[in-house]
Amino acid sequence: QKEGFRFFMEKEIYEQSRVLADTLLGRLRDESIYFEELDNNLFEGINEIKLCACGTSYHAALVASYLFERHSKIRVSVEIASEFRYREPFLTADTLFIVISQSGETADTLESLKMAKRSGLKTMVICNVDNSSMVRLADASILTRAGIEKGVASTKAFATQVCVLWMLSLFLGGARKTLATEEIKRQIHLLRALPSTVNVENVLHEQLRRLSKRYLHGHGFFFIGRDVFYPLALEGALKLKEISYLHAEGYPSGEMKHGPIALADPELFTIALLPQHMLYDKTKSNIEELSARDSTICSISPLDFDKADDHIRTHLHEDYMLEFFEMMVVLQLLSMEIAIRLGNDVDMPRNLAKSVTVE
Ligand code: F6R
Repeated sequence: QKEGFRFFMEKEIYEQSRVLADTLLGRLRDESIYFEELDNNLFEGINEIKLCACGTSYHAALVASYLFERHSKIRVSVEIASEFRYREPFLTADTLFIVISQSGETADTLESLKMAKRSGLKTMVICNVDNSSMVRLADASILTRAGIEKGVASTKAFATQVCVLWMLSLFLGGARKTLATEEIKRQIHLLRALPSTVNVENVLHEQLRRLSKRYLHGHGFFFIGRDVFYPLALEGALKLKEISYLHAEGYPSGEMKHGPIALADPELFTIALLPQHMLYDKTKSNIEELSARDSTICSISPLDFDKADDHIRTHLHEDYMLEFFEMMVVLQLLSMEIAIRLGNDVDMPRNLAKSVTVE
């Protein structure tokens, strides 16, 4: 059932346009976001949101923390489930506890959800599997509609998680009156453009195939970005390490000078996310610092950047969130091509399971 694709992961990357359209279906009104699953009073008395997840879903939670605070002016914290469940978190009843999980079965996330319920918090899950343990347990759930994901490395599930979380941030912004109607309308218009934004183009895929030939010789990789592009950098690094077994780390661009830049040398490849609409000048100067110290740079940007050794040109978009989704596809394809060249089975990477139901 790979339908001509080499791996399920590749098929799932190409499916993102369709599954994002499914995830948006029926949820976009002209001036507001509509979730038929949500009870209007779920957010009553809520002054804080705690997001909790593992792995790729944790990266989606980090993206959400930027969007929720920006759009709905609410306090947000993000928790790694395996840490949260064993510390002694201070929880207050005005907190909405949201878990994010593709499978709805991940042991640490499920236990964290149970813990939040026991502490009397309102709970919600953003999940890809209807009737999963988490969906049955949480007070409210939103389904991501990515369809079955077979590749162990999550791609389309992540895309739909971020899409739902973006919509939820607008929903909250509307409910809390922290976003003007005009701004909600503008972002709904952007959401409608998502399916076409993630369409994989042959030219781009070909360029990534060529680049992967050289990149598989890298001794190590930094993925760097700012704002929501920082969690995207973490996700890019996770994708590369899990399927190619190469060492990769994600960092906030501005943090490099606080230590990691000491590693810069030509054998160290830096994949730099340089969007036009999010802290462009700041990020650019961070990349220049790395290039001055001889790191091999691959920049991903819609704008020219002459300090890079390689440049992946993305399209011009009117907003950083559309840039986010296009760069997400670039990172997914790049790690997949490197892993395929290394001869790895990208659908079944060593030591990993699709659903981690033991801790
Ligand atoms: C990485 C990946 C894992 C999962 C993590 C959580 O590509 O898929 O990091 O994201 O195991 O799984 P879920 O989302 O099912 O709770």
